[in-house]
Amino acid sequence: MSYIIAPSILSADFAHLADEVATIEGAADWAHVDVMDNHFVPNLTFGLPVVKSLLAATTLPLDCHLMIENPDRWAPGYAEAGAHNVTFHAEATGDPVAVARDIRAAGALAGLAIDRDTPMEPYLELLPEFDTLLIMTIKAGFGGQSFIPELLDKVRLARKHVNAGHLTIRIEVDGGISGDTIGLAAEAGADAFVAGTAVYNEPDRAAAVHRLRALAAP
Ligand code: DX5
Ligand code: ZN
Repeated sequence: MSYIIAPSILSADFAHLADEVATIEGAADWAHVDVMDNHFVPNLTFGLPVVKSLLAATTLPLDCHLMIENPDRWAPGYAEAGAHNVTFHAEATGDPVAVARDIRAAGALAGLAIDRDTPMEPYLELLPEFDTLLIMTIKAGFGGQSFIPELLDKVRLARKHVNAGHLTIRIEVDGGISGDTIGLAAEAGADAFVAGTAVYNEPDRAAAVHRLRALAAP
């Protein structure tokens, strides 16, 4: 199984985003892009115009994690712009399948994100509609929080369901992923790993990515 390492630019220097993304090119598989609207989460980052500029500045696939309200209104625009993955939160919509279909129709992979306090069970049956399942291993909103090991129970449950149903969906974890925790997440069944501070707080980002990849492997 091939693993995806997706450094989160939330911990990068926003005044030099293109250069910051360039530091992970050649090492990372995706660049993880956290869009926050100060409504769905109590934090604010950037929106579609910045993502469009980033798309023009890098060859890395952009893994857009929308922590926003009304994903039905906004998510397809990220797909049309050329994002590789567009992931929105289950908690932000009453009709996740409709949003997923719009994202796929607009040409991107569709991702479903499950926040810390949301149970996994009600969403298992929707997984065939998605390409990525993002399980938060913290409460969404800020980088640099501590990994919550109990949330790996959701990863285990999802992995069991995905394997039993022969689904091709990726299981991504986001929050507190570091050299100390990535192996636990991989063991639980994750195959895509977001890491913000564990990459961007390091002086050599490519080396940090290689190290995480090595520690994820069994
Ligand atoms: C937080 C974001 C994460 C964040 C992770 O809600 O979704 O992607 O960048 O940061 P770390 O890896 O530092 O926990
Ligand atoms: Zn994220």
